[in-house]
Amino acid sequence: MRTQVGIVGAGPAGLTLAHLLHLRGIESVILEARSREYVEQRVRAGVLEQGTVDLLVGTGLGERLRREGIVHSGIELRFGGEGHRIPMSDLTGGRAITIYGQQEVVKDLIGARLAYDGPLLFDTADVALHDLETERPRITYVHDGRPDELECDVIAGCDGFHGVCRDSIPPGVLELHEREYPFGWLGILATVAPSTDELIYAYHERGFALHSLRSPKLSRLYLQVDPDEPIDDWPDERVWGELHLRFERDGWTLREGPIIEKGITPMRSFVAEPMQHGRLYLAGDAAHIVPPTGAKGLNVAVHDVKVLAEALEEWYRSGSTELLESYSATCLRRVWRVQDFSNYMTTLLHRLEADGFEDRLQRARLAYVCSSEAAARSLAENYVGLENV
Ligand code: FAD
Ligand code: PHB
Repeated sequence: MRTQVGIVGAGPAGLTLAHLLHLRGIESVILEARSREYVEQRVRAGVLEQGTVDLLVGTGLGERLRREGIVHSGIELRFGGEGHRIPMSDLTGGRAITIYGQQEVVKDLIGARLAYDGPLLFDTADVALHDLETERPRITYVHDGRPDELECDVIAGCDGFHGVCRDSIPPGVLELHEREYPFGWLGILATVAPSTDELIYAYHERGFALHSLRSPKLSRLYLQVDPDEPIDDWPDERVWGELHLRFERDGWTLREGPIIEKGITPMRSFVAEPMQHGRLYLAGDAAHIVPPTGAKGLNVAVHDVKVLAEALEEWYRSGSTELLESYSATCLRRVWRVQDFSNYMTTLLHRLEADGFEDRLQRARLAYVCSSEAAARSLAENYVGLENV
């Protein structure tokens, strides 16, 4: 098989890239290791920045997103038993975030891809990259039990943090920057109406907690936990008990309901530089990871592939490699802005160490964000997504 762009991974990055290329008349083939059911059910991100929504709507994917997405114009920061609203839209000239599950974005993208018969192979095994430094890079893989090969002009590595693309780059080329946090997030999905209209980010001496949602009947909540803690140590009663303690506020109650999904995710910051080698371009989690406190991972992945689609269009149209050559530097500007914001939100809101001094600093920072319009505006413009970075 031969194609223009070989895409490894059918997460938000790979699927959005294929969609943007299709709209520009550029062919691609997507190879995905998992099944369609698996990628459509995987519960992950929930917050779309204004720019991500604008891109999806502007490329014909807004139908269900407009109907089911829930627009939020503020968030609550809760600490010391009190809530403080950050009015994001008022502080950013009307910009907002939209709550719409990552798996819904993935379902919409797969639906659009299949509607125009775009090649998308699920359950591919043994994906391996070859000849990246030549003009004819290849991907070998096994599908339906048969070995096969895809010859491409370029390869897009959109296979997430644990994929194979980044590791196909020869040793010594990439500079890796990494920070592991000494905590993880236990996330639950519960069939109960959210106890809040807007997201609540809570700082508490027992640890961070987040109240998010997916729909008027589905709540999504997170707790800061030890990253190595077995999930079996967290029966449902313990999860609810801990959530009640960390969200405690006079006159407010947390509604409980059946937990239908539960998992622990480690937290890390990671960047591989540059995001390109030969004819391989890395995008999304394959190149960088942020801790989820800033709600940025999916959004920055979508930004990467927007930059890549524009660069490939320019190359096919005019033969100019200028945008492709600046792909990595253009993406990394936003990646590092988002790394800084995600690190800021993480260290602002998590219990870092049992140290009274650190705790007082965090409370002072929180009080500042909640009392200074300048500080709140800085948080808000990063949270809804900066237009120009
Ligand atoms: P992925 O979604 O990881 O997709 C990669 C795909 O490649 C997968 O389908 C995988 O199966 C496939 N693959 C892997 N290896 C191979 C292989 N060898 N061959 C073929 N295919 C392969 N981000 C936000 O913006 N907002 C949020 O609110 C938010 N909350 C989050 C909450 C949690 C608990 C977590 C874990 C993440 C959150 N994120 C959030 C981050 C977001 O989910 C990721 O950044 C996003 O999934 C990145 O998309 P991607 O396409 O780059 O990678
Ligand atoms: C989510 O709804 O899953 C979510 C919301 C905000 C975050 C992270 C995750 O910062």
